[in-house]
Amino acid sequence: MATDYATLMVETVDSTQDEVADRFDGSPLLVIAAHQTKGRGRLEREWMEPDRGMFASLGFEPGWEPEDRGLIPLAAALAMREALREIAGVDVGLRWPNDLVTPSGKVGGVLAEGSDDRVIVGCGVNLWWAEPIEGAAGVFDHDPGPDVAPDLARAWAGNLLLRLAAHAELWGHHEYEAACVTLGQPVQFEKGSGVAVGIHPDGSLLVETGEGTIAVHAGDVRLSATLPDGSSEETP
Ligand code: BTN
Repeated sequence: MATDYATLMVETVDSTQDEVADRFDGSPLLVIAAHQTKGRGRLEREWMEPDRGMFASLGFEPGWEPEDRGLIPLAAALAMREALREIAGVDVGLRWPNDLVTPSGKVGGVLAEGSDDRVIVGCGVNLWWAEPIEGAAGVFDHDPGPDVAPDLARAWAGNLLLRLAAHAELWGHHEYEAACVTLGQPVQFEKGSGVAVGIHPDGSLLVETGEGTIAVHAGDVRLSATLPDGSSEETP
């Protein structure tokens, strides 16, 4: 699939996800907004705007087989981790499946929406947040100004499209595991609990329950105590 993309920068939109959906014509499209009025997160949650944020969505026609597409949100989180290293010089952890975290809290997240022939992946990053909501944090402890967000969004889109252009097996499984702060932590899921021990090749979480290792899918699991500083937090 193509690794080049068109970019549209806008001041304020409801959601960059909807903006891509309205404008997508089959070629990769990145929409970056300075502000969102109806940003959304996973599980129909509101995505709040910090003091300085990055809001971007990338639309594309996925080249991977349908059974591999569950890896796209994980690849997108990994791509943003790389972009933050490149643009901001900051190392963030990955909380399975698609949260970006620092010891202070969640600094970003990925939302993947779409159909068989069109995927829209959105990413939000809290660049600076003087008084963050509970569980959240900013990447910087000061306002980095308006230019970081577009640079970060482009670095993310470029990195993600390169991963998507490769065979699905090369998406970054080992890189993801190495950065995943969920591994080694206790997890609870609908039918039990255990300790997260790895990422299955299909993107699900491998959990050691004491009676064996099982694969748990996103949405079936509640994570606890997964922040690198040892503090406790739950996320569906
Ligand atoms: C999550 O952690 O729940 C995912 C958050 C995704 C937020 C981003 S911000 C850019 C894009 N537009 C949206 O409305 N949501 C995503």
